[in-house]
Amino acid sequence: MIEVKNLSKRFGNIEAVSKVSFEVQSGEVLGFLGPNGAGKTTTMRILTCFLPATEGSATVAGYDVFSEPLEVRRRIGYLPEGVPLYSELRVSEYLNFVAEVKGVPRRQRQGSVAKVLEECGLAHMTQRTVGKLSKGYRQRVGIAQALVNDPEVLILDEPTIGLDPQQIVEIRELIKNMAGRRTVILSSHILPEVNQICQRVTIINRGKIVAVDTPENLHARLQKGRALYLQVDGPLPQVQQALRGVPGVLDVAPQEMPRGDGAQPTVHAFQVTSSREVDVRRELARTVHDRQWGLLEMRPLSMSLEEIFIQLVTEEQGVA
Ligand SMILES: Nc1ncnc2c1ncn2[C@@H]1O[C@H](COP(=O)(O)OP(=O)(O)OP(=O)(O)O)[C@@H](O)[C@H]1O
Ligand SMILES: [Mg+2]
Repeated sequence: MIEVKNLSKRFGNIEAVSKVSFEVQSGEVLGFLGPNGAGKTTTMRILTCFLPATEGSATVAGYDVFSEPLEVRRRIGYLPEGVPLYSELRVSEYLNFVAEVKGVPRRQRQGSVAKVLEECGLAHMTQRTVGKLSKGYRQRVGIAQALVNDPEVLILDEPTIGLDPQQIVEIRELIKNMAGRRTVILSSHILPEVNQICQRVTIINRGKIVAVDTPENLHARLQKGRALYLQVDGPLPQVQQALRGVPGVLDVAPQEMPRGDGAQPTVHAFQVTSSREVDVRRELARTVHDRQWGLLEMRPLSMSLEEIFIQLVTEEQGVA
């Protein structure tokens, strides 16, 4: 549905996007993950025909973004960064207006607007003034305007930014439910977010793609070993040694104990790294139990987005 080949965009000396290539299948939800200034918005603006590329090619539904922008725009719904809304209009007036601008035939307009109002959970907000809505509802109106001409492709630039946790859950659910029916690209800074919503993730850093994979594979690839956090009530060197002896354990590193009212001098914290092939949790628990120490806590430690970036970017530089 979307094909991007060797796309580059320069702003003066800055190469905002550098030889980026990727494909999105029909009905797929693709995540664009990257830190500030990575080139996410720039790539999306090129795909939506708001910005010409310096080099490379991009097609949407078989139409060229550069030579057939009208055909492309007809098929795309776009939620830009910081969505500009006509704040003095009522929600239904605004969506009617957008439908008209996007060329939805007059006869179909009312039906199209009603459908997106329903889909975006805005049916009870039709008479509210756009400018007076809460941020979350304004974001919903932004998504509704992107959907109003029933586009095959949706491009959403940070759809959950600035929303409260409840609204984030709702917007994520809304996007997730589009999988299969629409092709979606969404950008985000948040790894768990793309993990939840997307079938595939493209990690972009300084204009370059550093990884494209499913969230599961990405995690597996990045997390060479599993890491666990343990708190054990027992003598430090003996506990460390015993845990090291569990098959599959690669390393046991003592950690600083969190200070607090309940801090006990005999309780120690550890980070246990194990190979990915073995689940060592049962054997760790048994080891502690058999020696009559106390297992007070055991939980997986997962990599933060920052750690993943550091790892990917260093790998990338190592190759270059
Ligand atoms: N119109 C412009 N003129 C000059 N430089 C620009 C322009 N638009 C973007 N840039 C630069 O291109 C680079 C990529 O910016 P872009 O907005 O695509 O990043 P982003 O991944 O969307 O970041 P964020 O997460 O902060 O939204 C940045 O260095 C930015 O300063
Ligand atoms: Mg951006």
